[in-house]
Amino acid sequence: MGKMWSGRFSGKASKLLDEFNASLNFDKKLYEYDIKGSKAHAKMLNAQGLIDDNEYKTIINGLDQIRDEIERGTFQFDLSDEDIHMAIEKRLTEIIGDAGKKLHTARSRNDQVALDFRLYVQAHNEIIRELILDVVEAFVEIAKKNSETMLPGMTHLQHAQPINFGYHMMAYASMLKRDHERFESSFKRNNYSPIGCAALAGTPHPVNRELTAHELGFDRPSLNCLDTVSDRDFALEMLFNIATMMMHISRLAEELILWSSSEFRFVTLSDAYSTGSSIMPQKKNPDVPELLRGKTGRTYGNLISLLTVMKGLPLAYNKDMQEDKEGTFDSVETAEISLTILAEVIKTMQVNKERMEQACKIGHLSATDLADYLVEKCKIPFREAHFITGRAVALAEEKGCDLSELDTASLQSIDDRIKEDVEKYLSIRHSMNARNSQGGTSTERTKEQIEAIQKWLQEKEKMKNSFS
Ligand code: ARG
Repeated sequence: MGKMWSGRFSGKASKLLDEFNASLNFDKKLYEYDIKGSKAHAKMLNAQGLIDDNEYKTIINGLDQIRDEIERGTFQFDLSDEDIHMAIEKRLTEIIGDAGKKLHTARSRNDQVALDFRLYVQAHNEIIRELILDVVEAFVEIAKKNSETMLPGMTHLQHAQPINFGYHMMAYASMLKRDHERFESSFKRNNYSPIGCAALAGTPHPVNRELTAHELGFDRPSLNCLDTVSDRDFALEMLFNIATMMMHISRLAEELILWSSSEFRFVTLSDAYSTGSSIMPQKKNPDVPELLRGKTGRTYGNLISLLTVMKGLPLAYNKDMQEDKEGTFDSVETAEISLTILAEVIKTMQVNKERMEQACKIGHLSATDLADYLVEKCKIPFREAHFITGRAVALAEEKGCDLSELDTASLQSIDDRIKEDVEKYLSIRHSMNARNSQGGTSTERTKEQIEAIQKWLQEKEKMKNSFS
């Protein structure tokens, strides 16, 4: 059989054209959505009297057979069919004859590809949201065990103020919660049906787009057909959401790499998620976080690539848009495996509490507390308090100790308004717990944050169950 569109052509298509033009090698991934879409379309054609009951049944059986063939690996993919839409339609006609030729009534590949791709993006949006919940749960579990584990909080990668490790983990939980919400809002915004738009302008056939939209799990049909077949915003949002989420994951990956170095040793990654060196027998390398950080790059590339493809396109469909799929598949697959392995890395890593606490004795982490003490208890203006504290830090440096280890007499030699009660303020744990403002690092506030995220997780779990 020749090309579906061969009617107006007298010459044969070159092999090179097939190779360049075809998307079949990658869009075969969409087969299940194509079949689902065709079934819904056939149901609507039947309901509208455009095909009879017998034709409808034959089409459904034929589509089921094709799905089996693809899943069993016996389906013959032939590049000259161009894409999955035409490959399936051609096979359908081979199997069921004339009824197969009626399926494309009131349909174009333009709304078909818009549908299949949207169904793919929506389905994976749900999968990614599930995987995010697993990662957030892993953060919650580790935070629950570490809301008293002291950790030097940093700015500019320099010791700044003491925090606890649970609090640090909850920062990432908050980021991923925001990512989840971003996926959720994209899902809702884009949950409308393109099918029935045909090539660009709608169709003279009496289609019922409400029926197909409902059948496919969409909230409604799209408003304007010209926009719908030209639109890839749903894919761009997916790419942006993934890129942003990977940026968050990459920041965590960077910290895990630093923390597992000999200099830090704050965490030890499980052997199951570490690799060795081919030449240096002593080495244990954090390849997983490194790859998480590295793979972030390709997700940015995929976003920029599709934004660039779309920027100059006149309405409606242009073949350029076939370039939308590979990058999106790649980002989706990267996001899914990254989230899956990240949850495992977090669940299995060992937290070296003593190392973290020791590190809190470097860098005079309670300096701000001394300044605050001078302001509150000694009624010294902040600028002056800042200066006195600077002197105290210099003295500690001179003595080769941390500010928290300086005795009261030494502090009084700098300023005699300092009293005995200063000692408490210099303790690192006191400093951490003093940051008890809403959203702060104190153990009490950290536990509050853990509870809030746990409550959110429970709500999401409930929603999940109410759908299934
Ligand atoms: N394979 C095409 C794509 O992925 C779908 C067909 C578009 N329609 C057309 N008239 N060429 O974008």
